[in-house]
Amino acid sequence: MSFLAKSLLELSSLKHDEVKSLFDLALKIELKGWSILPKKNDALISLVFLEPSTRTVSSFEIAALRSGYKVSTLNGDFSSVKKGETLLDTLLTLDSMRPDLFVVRHGNAEKLSDIVPQLKVPVINAGEGVAGHPTQGLLDAYTIIKERKTIEEQKVLIIGDITHSRVAASNIELLNKLGAQIAVCGPEEWAPSHFKKFESLKEGLEWATVCMALRIQKERHSSESKNLEVRVQQNFQLNKNSLKNFRSDGLILHPGPFNRDVELTSDVLHDSRCGIWKQTENGVYIRAALMAQILGAA
Ligand code: CP
Repeated sequence: MSFLAKSLLELSSLKHDEVKSLFDLALKIELKGWSILPKKNDALISLVFLEPSTRTVSSFEIAALRSGYKVSTLNGDFSSVKKGETLLDTLLTLDSMRPDLFVVRHGNAEKLSDIVPQLKVPVINAGEGVAGHPTQGLLDAYTIIKERKTIEEQKVLIIGDITHSRVAASNIELLNKLGAQIAVCGPEEWAPSHFKKFESLKEGLEWATVCMALRIQKERHSSESKNLEVRVQQNFQLNKNSLKNFRSDGLILHPGPFNRDVELTSDVLHDSRCGIWKQTENGVYIRAALMAQILGAA
């Protein structure tokens, strides 16, 4: 019986041993293959994506199908949300169809934490406005542990559009809990002041063991963002030159999707320190492990 037989809406309530158990199962799937999971051919996962996604929706779908589950996907562009239906009513409608698990991404003002108590089916938050993206935080921490062996001694520099990023919110929540040091670096308007902060990217990269660039969240900006975008390009971009200041065994992360030639240049993708494709691969194992634990299949 899994300890995680409940929804996952945020990371602050996860205990250390729960995170460890999840990472152990993800690693087991990765190293030993999908056959270690007991097949639950009757389990049906309902993917409800009311905001765009490539990595998250596909990794949940691939993980579900590899695990032997069935998948039903609701794409927001073709749903009755377009006719004005609320997130609450959308989820109540699908809840009455009795899937076994919801995976939900949305950007509405409504909060999953208010809706979930009204549902019979557990929910995984797959990205909620700017509030959080817990499975991205989990897969990033898993990637750091795999590539850097430990998380406690890591100095993680988060670069760019931090205030609009749900990825940053979840990473900060989890990495703090697991004992990493965190610092931020970016245009003043986008870098919260209650963190250790580097004004210059050079100094930040000299300090860090892990650096994480973030996508500029244009869809959540007001009109003055163009100027800020240029400032990221000019002062906070990861490229061949700026990465000369980063340690040779460091780890470069980006949750994706990335804007080439804005927050990073194409050559970063070929840098031996780049862990971006490992992040996307690890997302499949982490999401499989999470679904298996919630469904009681591991
Ligand atoms: N990192 C992330 O959430 O990517 P998608 O928006 O493509 O799912």
